[in-house]
Amino acid sequence: MKILGISAHYHDSAAALLVDGVPICAVQEERLSRRKNDASFPMHAIEWCLDSAGLDPAELDAVVYYERSMLKFERILTSALRAFPRSWRSFPHAIRNTLGEKAWVRGIISSHLDVPRRKIFFTDHHAAHAAAAFLAAPTRRAAILTADGVGEWATLTVGRGERRSDGSTDISLVREIRFPHSLGLLYSTFTAYLGFAVNEDEYKVMGLAAYGRPAMYEMVRRLVRPTADGAFELATEYFDFETAASRSYSAKFVELFGPARNPYEPIDLKSAEGQRFADCAASVQLLLEETLVKMAADLQRETGLPDLCFGGGVALNGVANARILAESGFERLFVPPAPGDAGCALGAALYADRLYFRSPDRDLPDHPFWGPEIDAGELARAAREDGQAVAQLDAAAVVEEVAAELADGRIVGWMDGACEFGPRALGHRSILAAPHSAAMRDRLNRDIKRREEFRPFAPVVTAEAADRFFDLPRGGVRLARFMSGVFPVRQEWRSRLAAVTHVDGSARVQVLERDMAPRLHALLEAYGRRTGIPVLLNTSFNVAGEPIVTRALEGYSTFRRCGIDLLAAGPVLVRKPAAAKEAEPWLSGSVAASGAV
Ligand SMILES: [Fe+2]
Repeated sequence: MKILGISAHYHDSAAALLVDGVPICAVQEERLSRRKNDASFPMHAIEWCLDSAGLDPAELDAVVYYERSMLKFERILTSALRAFPRSWRSFPHAIRNTLGEKAWVRGIISSHLDVPRRKIFFTDHHAAHAAAAFLAAPTRRAAILTADGVGEWATLTVGRGERRSDGSTDISLVREIRFPHSLGLLYSTFTAYLGFAVNEDEYKVMGLAAYGRPAMYEMVRRLVRPTADGAFELATEYFDFETAASRSYSAKFVELFGPARNPYEPIDLKSAEGQRFADCAASVQLLLEETLVKMAADLQRETGLPDLCFGGGVALNGVANARILAESGFERLFVPPAPGDAGCALGAALYADRLYFRSPDRDLPDHPFWGPEIDAGELARAAREDGQAVAQLDAAAVVEEVAAELADGRIVGWMDGACEFGPRALGHRSILAAPHSAAMRDRLNRDIKRREEFRPFAPVVTAEAADRFFDLPRGGVRLARFMSGVFPVRQEWRSRLAAVTHVDGSARVQVLERDMAPRLHALLEAYGRRTGIPVLLNTSFNVAGEPIVTRALEGYSTFRRCGIDLLAAGPVLVRKPAAAKEAEPWLSGSVAASGAV
């Protein structure tokens, strides 16, 4: 069976293709259109998926959309009408937006892809989140938690999933919390209040939180009331989801917390005002953690299961994830590499395959690499045409050479195989650097990422050495597979891992097993042989405002425009003249592999 999953029209569109129950490819529209967080109907992504599988749209058995668009339309309409006349400003915007594209998805899919309407299916939004989290995880029975801003009406669901020995699959979401009561929207409201971009910069709030104290925790708690059934509701008078097109907090919110941050002013953490914002971030972060830990603990008691699968955009909060793992009673916590809405493209396809069409259960490959492959020849051609030094070496020589350059303090653009599905670079489209000094962190922030100093960089470490450097609880290695947890750096290593240790001593570490990305694993080992520390700084291969690079040419263009010293893809290495060393056989044009570098 050939099933295409689509998520679109909200944030970060994507397409995924499933053949006989197994993903063949999946990619976010932004990686191909080159527009960050591209929310448009993902034509590039769909075309690439079909092309790379050699399929014609007519050969698809089903196209599955990741939410019930008419229900979502109903929610937007109902909310706007409830808030009328306060909502008169946002109402035309919401209706135009929804009527223009979102509500008539079946027609859009049918006309764009030329597939008959009978082949077009829909899943509940949170069912797609749940399927993405549960069906891709290596577990047969697990509790399921999903949490995001909002889908149709649900904002949080709990339930369980089972892959039975007879090949059948069950996903039962038994309870939900509905709009406007939403942990995701609560966090996004503070994201807006703190002057960051909603749906994009939530992780900056998490990063900023480490600089503050939860001094406003009691104030934040006034916004979120526990309910008798163990859930919560938002005190809606502090929010303005229905009426404001541009912000989501009310005048009463500003009365309570003080003036919002001006997004154009940098945060000065040494000033009282800067500290107020950091305290505010710490307070909402703590409330998010406490709420999720309690709900997860209740779910663990209720199900008695050792595994939890967690999906939805809230599952990108690595600090909360680590606390759920440590405190909820679950032994293992699975967060997929794309827990947000992009991942719903894959989730919707999986849900339809197992639950609608009753296809037999399948184990899925446990990695995030479903996007376009890198073409090293394209990199070599582009660099030569541009007059740059290009070297071609054998695989072992590339690893040794890059490790030597990293140990010498060079910054490396590292491209390998298929690109990641999801927001994080997990070793195939990464900028790598030595993790030891704060000066390296500052250089990356200044010359490449051009971003705020309070945001930490993440480390990647071999699975074999992870415990030496990081204080990982039971289940921590699994949670760190896709960089989904924030854990303490061991005290004795913090000064030698300064570029990747956050101000509170933590790191959002990726623990890399050899089988997931063998080339990066070999590089970590080679770097470890030289320095004694098989840890590298790993940040996504992009500059501010751009999506992560997909193809070799985009990597090359990024390399030329920022402070990356060395670029590696397959057997090809390109180095900027300023970083060239005379003693090494770097020549313009093709160089035969000598292995003696
Ligand atoms: Fe969502």
